[in-house]
Amino acid sequence: MPASAEPRRVLILGGTGDAVQLARALAERLDIEATVSLAGLTRKPAPLPLPVRRGGFGGAGGLVDHLRAEGVTHLIDATHPFAQRISASAVEAAAALDLPLLRLARPPWKPGPDERWIEVADPAAAARALPAAARQVFLAIGRRDLAAFAIRPDIRFHVRMIEPPEAALPLPDHRVILARGPFEVDAETALFHRLGIDSLVAKNAGGTGARAKLTAAATLRLPVVMIRRPTLPPARDVESVEDALGWLASG
Ligand SMILES: NC(=O)c1ccc[n+]([C@@H]2O[C@H](COP(=O)([O-])OP(=O)(O)OC[C@H]3O[C@@H](n4cnc5c(N)ncnc54)[C@H](OP(=O)(O)O)[C@@H]3O)[C@@H](O)[C@H]2O)c1
Repeated sequence: MPASAEPRRVLILGGTGDAVQLARALAERLDIEATVSLAGLTRKPAPLPLPVRRGGFGGAGGLVDHLRAEGVTHLIDATHPFAQRISASAVEAAAALDLPLLRLARPPWKPGPDERWIEVADPAAAARALPAAARQVFLAIGRRDLAAFAIRPDIRFHVRMIEPPEAALPLPDHRVILARGPFEVDAETALFHRLGIDSLVAKNAGGTGARAKLTAAATLRLPVVMIRRPTLPPARDVESVEDALGWLASG
């Protein structure tokens, strides 16, 4: 970097494995000062090699104030594709400040030839779409949106989450499985088999580590209720950390 050049100041909106990978790549760069922002929901998030700030901004207006105060020059939204509110705030705040904004999101999954998907718009529709005969259902949707499944008291829900819940889950019959991805197909298949799972509910997050459960479900011939991604306001999109680095390199 020439002595006179100002480093670029990047804010990464995180909460995903891709955000962690991007942070690792940017930590090596002398020409970029980057910070990661986390919602603060996970008590022990994956370690990051960059400064981290935690907690909401208070909507798009609060994000504008933060970006301005910190002199951020580039905003990268690497949040989960189902994190609608923060992504909308990012678009609004970037537009207000005329700041370059990039959204980093893996392409959504498509069903493989042996996969039996029932695609639905949201968690409430997923609960309604579960087969009438379902009794042991694996919920790989995080801790939000569980209440929608309380309409099926005849089902035992196996809920996978990263950390123990702080409050009782709003499901009459459930067990919690604590685990942090990425996951392997063989281990997922063995887990579903051991638990006697007969249906899976997932969000179409994309990526490889989280896809193992879909291959495992296909191996065991289980139906998958797949929640489609919400529509986000338009932004410049890339699908990989490499592409995000290319965007930064292009200025
Ligand atoms: N939704 C999922 O399925 C899912 C799955 C895995 C990981 N995550 C991660 O968990 C976080 C919360 O997800 P969500 O679905 O609750 O999102 P959300 O509905 O878009 O966010 C709710 C509020 O949390 C704050 N927030 C979210 N992400 C933030 C970030 N990276 N930095 C600072 N504040 C943030 C914002 O508060 P203010 O409005 O006050 O700014 C936002 O309005 C996201 O960072 C996401 O990447 C979500």
